[in-house]
Amino acid sequence: MIAARNIAASSKSLSKLSSVRMHIKCRGGFYPRTDDKVPRAEVPDDKVEWSAPFPDYTPKQYTAPHILAGPVYADPDIGSDFRPCWNALEGNINRCSHEGTYSIVEGLPRNMHGRTGITGRGALGRWGPNHAADPIVTRWKIAGNLVVKGETGKPILQFVCIQRRDCGDWAIPGGMVDPGEQVSATLLREFLEEALNSLEMTEDDKNRTEKKLKDFFKAGEEVYRGYVDDRRNTDNAWMETVAYNFHENDQGGLLYSLNLHAGDDAQAVKWQDISSQINLYASHRDFIQKVAENQNAHW
Ligand code: BGC
Repeated sequence: MIAARNIAASSKSLSKLSSVRMHIKCRGGFYPRTDDKVPRAEVPDDKVEWSAPFPDYTPKQYTAPHILAGPVYADPDIGSDFRPCWNALEGNINRCSHEGTYSIVEGLPRNMHGRTGITGRGALGRWGPNHAADPIVTRWKIAGNLVVKGETGKPILQFVCIQRRDCGDWAIPGGMVDPGEQVSATLLREFLEEALNSLEMTEDDKNRTEKKLKDFFKAGEEVYRGYVDDRRNTDNAWMETVAYNFHENDQGGLLYSLNLHAGDDAQAVKWQDISSQINLYASHRDFIQKVAENQNAHW
């Protein structure tokens, strides 16, 4: 077991992103995919932070039946023979947060961004941080040979956007980092699976496509690393991600001839124009806004 690295929140930290500052998507209403049977306890804005006294806070405990059934990617329930190494790498399971050390309160990890109105793990497999990675693949919007500009006078970027099968929301084609997997491998694998349907390719086609993209995926820029305002979050389990931008500048380049085909957890895929009008899953809109700013593109 390797001791936790206390990774200080960097300039890429979520605290700079609006949606996660105060639990917007993972607060209020019902827990997702429970047929509106599992309500979250109400948490007013000024009571999200744990430091705000809230003696009447009595959230329900909920862990989804498919998680309790013990799939390979999930932890057991906390009990006598499950002793997780919090804030550490436990074998190849990464229980470290990108945002530093989280507290353990009455034996359970405490959500670092405050109250969510529900305890347990909900639909998340791990107690504490659940790690994902998000590839933001961009190119310029072209008409004829010219880059199209938006009302701001700036060039319009497009990114590969998928529609999630679980909730129908449009999103970056990201996914969970497997135990022991490098984030760089997750970024490429998820893009291949969700935006190019590699799971249904012949082995030859898959190898060829992967080879084509491998170099392109080497030159990415980190856009974000940290907590995500994901509606599956609970007081004891939450999503974190690392988002990278992979950008194609060259009109004759790889991305202009890519054959998009949705697969795995994605039910549709498209090139989406980037502007402030987009509405995306979890905190993805914030990541895309950052990419537009970094590339000095229309927003
Ligand atoms: C998704 C990622 C997302 C993460 C956090 C994962 O299920 O695949 O795209 O960033 O959840 O919301």
